[in-house]
Amino acid sequence: MKKERLDKYVSNQLNISRSAVRTGIMSGKASVNGETVKNPAAPIDCEADTVFYSGNKIEYKKYVYLMLNKPAGIITASSDKSRKTVLDLVPYELRRKDLAPVGRLDKDTTGLLIITDDGEFAHKCISPKSNIEKSYIVELDGDITEDVITSFRNGVTLADGYICKPAKLFDLGNRQARVVITEGKYHQIKRMFGVFSLGVNALHRESFGSLKLPPDLGEGECAEIGESAQKLII
Ligand code: URA
Repeated sequence: MKKERLDKYVSNQLNISRSAVRTGIMSGKASVNGETVKNPAAPIDCEADTVFYSGNKIEYKKYVYLMLNKPAGIITASSDKSRKTVLDLVPYELRRKDLAPVGRLDKDTTGLLIITDDGEFAHKCISPKSNIEKSYIVELDGDITEDVITSFRNGVTLADGYICKPAKLFDLGNRQARVVITEGKYHQIKRMFGVFSLGVNALHRESFGSLKLPPDLGEGECAEIGESAQKLII
């Protein structure tokens, strides 16, 4: 049983400021199990109580899980003084206080980014111990040789001496490739190709574990994936 104050519960679930909710509750906008409750500090059993606010039933969600088709030009951060972040692309009705991106895609990288307020799940997703496969489509400025494919399979040694875990590299022709890695070091794929003097012109993440970016989710669009999506990832 998870207990929470009524004002905190309504504020978190509906993404309305705590002060606005408090005023609303005191003016009689909230009911719990059919009774009007005007005390913002009244304790709520999050899972068992039926709460209405402004005449609408609140469907309790402990956590929110979203996938974003990240466009280029947006930074992966929770907040920034001047630049637009991936959280600015989350529709208002899906916003929650503690939402944060899971891991990081570079500013110019596009594709699948998971966003959640479930910190434990996020941690498992990015932990190297979880060994989650992430698949990317990459456009290069040169041709892929057998030597590059073999080196990726054996573990590329980056310029700073770090030895990457074995990665899969499939040549798709026309200087395009699919790369599958299980770790997420800073600029990892760009640095891996850099070892072979290959520049990355475009990078797009198509899947995270077994979770694939749906073809009908347009660039900049966000969709709720629900808790069941966890099974596809970890
Ligand atoms: N590797 C990179 O170089 N950049 C990304 O955004 C993701 C993986």
